Amino acid sequence: MKHIIAPSILAADFANLQRDIEMVNRSEADWFHVDVMDGVFVPNISFGFPVITAAKKYAQKPFDVHLMIVDPDRYIAEFAKVGADIITVHYETCTHLHRTIQLIKSVGCKAGVALNPHTPVNLLKDILQDIDLALIMSVNPGFGGQQFIPQTLNKVAELKQMSLFNNPNLFIEVDGGIGLHNIASLIQAGANTFVAGNAVFAAQDPMKMIADLKNIEVETHLI
Ligand code: DX5
Ligand code: ZN
Repeated sequence: MKHIIAPSILAADFANLQRDIEMVNRSEADWFHVDVMDGVFVPNISFGFPVITAAKKYAQKPFDVHLMIVDPDRYIAEFAKVGADIITVHYETCTHLHRTIQLIKSVGCKAGVALNPHTPVNLLKDILQDIDLALIMSVNPGFGGQQFIPQTLNKVAELKQMSLFNNPNLFIEVDGGIGLHNIASLIQAGANTFVAGNAVFAAQDPMKMIADLKNIEVETHLI
């Protein structure tokens, strides 16, 4: 499968959200990445249901919703209602992760689990067969525009090995500090889904940047 590019609307111009969404519609991007932050799990607050509802009116690609919130079960049904296609919860916020995954699936969404930079991937071993997506955070969640943490490459490679056995169709998503400088090595390590915030929206030509990320040359014999 060709890798997926999911521009993060956290880095869009909120005063021109319709314009930025329509740019992504016209681009080679595959999904919209939608970062929800509660100011408790992470030290920042982003946006909630009214903004997602408004964005959904114009978006023509799936919504990949990344919940950086405590007790996400309370809001899963509402996120599905406002248009989430994939809902990803943080491992660190879920005491009964299996139950949360079942809940996400019961409302008709694909289910993902995100790991903070310090959380080992082997903790996913007994849930891997039940999820559609695993998100490896490559920065500490909370803000766009941070620097990529290199240990992510090892985590991706380990997760790829685990998934070959347990869930070969798993979306292995990397989020934070992704750009043209590191996407090829992450593909080689086994990632297939990429969030890009600043790399896209701070670029001179965001549509071209999306195309460049999508069509990056990778030495396939190493994969
Ligand atoms: C960070 C968010 C990211 C963020 C990525 O907590 O989960 O999705 O928008 O932004 P960049 O690509 O700028 O690091
Ligand atoms: Zn995110």
